Amino acid sequence: MAKYKITVDQDACIGCAACTAVSKNFRMADNGKSEPIKPDVDELKENEKEAAEICPVSCIKIEENKE
Ligand code: F3S
Repeated sequence: MAKYKITVDQDACIGCAACTAVSKNFRMADNGKSEPIKPDVDELKENEKEAAEICPVSCIKIEENKE
């Protein structure tokens, strides 16, 4: 199991795309909302935390999997 699970709350995302500006691990999907390109990662090395912090509606969640 990967160490971190990244999710974007699709109902809350307003499609401002700020996350895609700071992190290469997010892209805008066809529905106009953001999605993680790699939702399961062992390291947060693409500014995922910064993306979560910058999101104006705080809809990016990064959970640490406990094994
Ligand atoms: Fe959506 Fe927040 Fe990104 S509103 S597009 S997840 S910065």
